[in-house]
Amino acid sequence: MATYSAYVAIQKGNPSQAIEFKTDLQLPKQVPKDNVLVKVQATALNPVGYKLLRSLPNFMARRPHVMEQDVAGIIVDPNGSEFSVGDKVFGASPSPKFGTLAQYAVLPSSCLAPKPTNVSAVEAAGLATVVATAYQALVTNLHIESGQTVFINGGSSGVGLSAVQIAKFMGCKVVATASGKNKELLLSLGVDEFIDYTEAPLVTRLISNPPSPKFHAIFDAAGITDPALYLNSASYLAPGGAYLTAGTLPKDLNELGGMLRQVFEGMLRPTWLGGVSRKYGMVVVKLGKKDIETVGDLVSKGAVKPIVDSVYSFDRDNVMKAYEKLMTKHAAGKVVVKVMDEE
Ligand SMILES: NC(=O)c1ccc[n+]([C@@H]2O[C@H](COP(=O)([O-])OP(=O)(O)OC[C@H]3O[C@@H](n4cnc5c(N)ncnc54)[C@H](OP(=O)(O)O)[C@@H]3O)[C@@H](O)[C@H]2O)c1
Repeated sequence: MATYSAYVAIQKGNPSQAIEFKTDLQLPKQVPKDNVLVKVQATALNPVGYKLLRSLPNFMARRPHVMEQDVAGIIVDPNGSEFSVGDKVFGASPSPKFGTLAQYAVLPSSCLAPKPTNVSAVEAAGLATVVATAYQALVTNLHIESGQTVFINGGSSGVGLSAVQIAKFMGCKVVATASGKNKELLLSLGVDEFIDYTEAPLVTRLISNPPSPKFHAIFDAAGITDPALYLNSASYLAPGGAYLTAGTLPKDLNELGGMLRQVFEGMLRPTWLGGVSRKYGMVVVKLGKKDIETVGDLVSKGAVKPIVDSVYSFDRDNVMKAYEKLMTKHAAGKVVVKVMDEE
C-alpha cells in the first residue's frame, strides 16, 4: 500500500522535541464520507500550531495528529464532492484531526475552495486562516465602513497584512503599527499612518498624542497579551467603538487568568471605578465553505495580495527552521513549507 510522509505532533513541547517526521503513514483505502484526498503542494504555519503544542497535554490536544491547518494542493480523490481529480484547491482544516504538514491530507471538502488563478500554490497556502480571520474581525465583528479610521496593531503579522488590505479595500483610513523594518511594506499597502511600536511605549504615545477623530475600531492583529492597549482605549477609541483582539494566549497559560480578569474588570466596572466604557472582543476564526470562498473571492479580485515571508523545503531541518522563524514572532507575512514543486 502507498505510504506518505508527515510531521506528527506526538507530545507536548517545543517543535524540535514534540514533532516527529513520519515517513510510513498509509493512505486510506477508502476516504471517509464528506472528505477528499488532497496531494499537498504547500502548507503554511500558524502560531496556533506551536502554541497548542507547547501548552496542551496529549489528551486535550488529541495527539498524535499531523501538524498545521493551512494548505494548497491538488484533489486526488474527490469522493463524490463538487471537486474533480486534478482540481487545484486551497483552504484550512477546521480541526487538528486533519493536519496538513504532510504529502497527503484527508480533509473535509467543506474547508476547501478552488485556488484563485492569480496566485501560486505557495502563495495560496497561507491565505485561508489569516485572511478569514482579518475579514471576520473587521467586517463581521467590527462592522467597519468606508471613511472610518481603523487602528491595526501588528500590521505586519499575517493577520495584520490581510487586515490592512481589507480595510483599505473598504475605503477606511488605516493607522498601523510594526517595527521600523516593516514601514515600507505597510506604506506600500496604503497604510495612512505608520507607528513604529519599538520607538516608544505604544499606549503612552497614543494617550499623549490621541488621534482626532478617535479611532472607530481597534484590531490587535499581533495578539499581544498585555491588556494595556484595551484598558486605556477610552483615550483613543471613539465612544461606541470596539476593541477586538486576534488572540490572547500567553506563553505561560498560568498568566491567562490574571490577564482576562483585568480585561473583564475593565469591561464591567463603571468608569468612576476605573472601567473602560469600550467594547472588548476576541475573534475566533470560522473556516467553513463560505469563509474559504470569501477569501478566494478577495484574492481573485486583487483586494488581498498574498504576502509570503519565507519558504522552506519539506525536509526535517528546514521544517524546524520554519518553526524557528515563526516563533521569533517577527515574520512579515506567511512562513510556508513547500511540499512539492508546482504542477
Ligand atoms: N483568534 C483567531 O481565530 C486567530 C486566527 C489566526 C491567528 N490568531 C492569532 O493572531 C496573532 C497573529 O497571528 P499571525 O499568524 O498573523 O502572526 P505572525 O505573522 O507570526 O506575527 C508576526 C508579526 O507580529 C508583529 N509583532 C510582534 N510583536 C508585536 C508587537 N508588540 N506590536 C506590533 N506588532 C508585533 C511582528 O512585527 P515586527 O517584526 O515588525 O515586530 C511580525 O511581523 C497570533 O497571536 C495568532 O495566534 C488568532
